[in-house]
Parts: sequence; structure tokens; C-alpha cells
Amino acid sequence: MLIKFAVITVSDTCYQKEKEDKSGPALEKSILTLFPESTIFKKIVPDEVDVIEAELLELCSKQYNIVLTTGGTGFAKRDVTPEATKRVIEKEAPGISIAMVTRSLQSTDMAMLSRAVCGYRGQTLIINLPGSVRGAIECLSFIKGSLIHVVHLLI
Ligand code: MTE
Repeated sequence: MLIKFAVITVSDTCYQKEKEDKSGPALEKSILTLFPESTIFKKIVPDEVDVIEAELLELCSKQYNIVLTTGGTGFAKRDVTPEATKRVIEKEAPGISIAMVTRSLQSTDMAMLSRAVCGYRGQTLIINLPGSVRGAIECLSFIKGSLIHVVHLLI
């Protein structure tokens, strides 16, 4: 089954090209390994709640199956990815966030600092991942087993 993925890197510094986006490409590579039959749209947006919300809404309207955001889930003043996600989703999927935190706590106490929100709007599942390459890839690996099933349930 072909899965339409979008990977949205949320980062002011990457958006302004002050820093190279490493998490977006790392997630892309990981997705292609885990789900070879997938297409991946990639974009970098700044830590602006309205911009993130608009991007997520557009992806939902284009019927992407899974939107992974990376970054902006922590406690910094500019971290607003979960707030934008809450504005967009129709139903929350707390079990996915809990799974990511629970599994991540086994390797780092810092995992409790992610406020990641997951949920769906229409047939699009939105998952907030941490911004670090390690955090993003680890969290994706913890939830990968349920993703195909969710896609089937939502279409
Ligand atoms: N989860 C895993 N699995 N591995 C990690 O390295 N980093 C944590 C956390 N979750 C991490 C993780 C850290 S240090 C922070 S600050 C939060 O995710 C939020 O990161 P973000 O603000 O870049 O989204």
C-alpha cells in the first residue's frame, strides 16, 4: 500500500537557513526503509503557531496519510508545535504520545520534556516528534508497528 507521508521540520533556525535541517532528511531515510512504498513531502516551517496550523490544515485537506512534525515540542518560549497540532486535530490519540514517552524514558529522562501531541483530522494522522535526530528517529521506531493499521482505519 502506498502511504503518503509529509515530514514538517519546525525550526526558526533551519527555516532561516542558519542551521542545516538534519532531522527532516533523517526521518525521510527512516520512512523509506520502514515503508518502501511511500511518498514523502518535506518542508521546513518557522516556530509560528499560525504558520504551522495552516501547513497542517493544507496537508490534511490534501489527504496525506501521515504527517510527522519534528521540533518545537519542548519548553522553550517559541515551542508551539503541540498548540498548532491541537488546533487542527479532530480527535486526539494520546496512546501514541504515551508510547513514545514511555519507551523514550528508558534511554533518557529528557523524554519527559516533550509535549508531543498526536491525533487525526479526516484521514490524516498527525504525530509530533522531538526535534533532535536521535529523538525523532527513536520515537518513530517506537510507534512504527501501529502506523499501517491506523492508515487503514482512517481511510
Ligand atoms: N525522546 C527521545 N526518544 N530521545 C531524545 O533524545 N530528547 C528530549 C525529548 N524527547 C529526546 C526525546 C528533549 S532533550 C527535549 S527538549 C524534548 O524531546 C523536546 O524536543 P523539541 O523541543 O526539539 O521538540
